[in-house]
Amino acid sequence: MPRLLENNRLGGQKLQRIVYTEEDIRRRIQEMGAEISSAYHAADRLLLVGLLKGSFLFVADLVRAIDLPLQVDFLVAASYGAGKKSTGDVRLLYDPEASLRDRAVILVEDIVDSGATLNRLIPRLEARSPASLEICALLHKRLVTLDREPRWVGFDAPNEFLVGYGLDYAEDFRHLPYIASL
Ligand code: IMP
Ligand code: MG
Repeated sequence: MPRLLENNRLGGQKLQRIVYTEEDIRRRIQEMGAEISSAYHAADRLLLVGLLKGSFLFVADLVRAIDLPLQVDFLVAASYGAGKKSTGDVRLLYDPEASLRDRAVILVEDIVDSGATLNRLIPRLEARSPASLEICALLHKRLVTLDREPRWVGFDAPNEFLVGYGLDYAEDFRHLPYIASL
């Protein structure tokens, strides 16, 4: 058992089990990168917009698995606060510098839970007239049907609270190289 699973009791929380190993994640991201690479052309001027903070590791690994010219930007939307339940309130704290106009844009999200974040962000990004706008989510709990479903999903996730590989609980656990349940 990885050392961190034994010892990680940050904030009084103990990890339960590993849901996706480092190797599961690595392999799946290689597949997604290949699929994205074949879905676009260099002329599309691909722009990946990562939703911070949760997607920071996913974006870093995904862009290296895509064999096309692309640019990367980030967006900060806050919805969760310090708890395990979404407040439904989505605030934009940082907006991409890059213009989305006439570009192929992929919004990269760590996990789809209630769908509130994506349902509120997509119309705001559409308003900037990208040539296309798709969602790539590492995890999808499949609790809801989104107004726009992600074109790419890494894993259909169990309905548990997951941490690691960017996902946090009250800002802890983001650095774990695997995804575990709390
Ligand atoms: P939604 O708006 O309810 O779909 O939630 C989206 C955001 O909530 C994600 O980007 C995560 O930051 C956070 N979130 C949802 N489920 C989990 C989880 O199981 N672990 C950690 N963060 C989560
Ligand atoms: Mg997030």
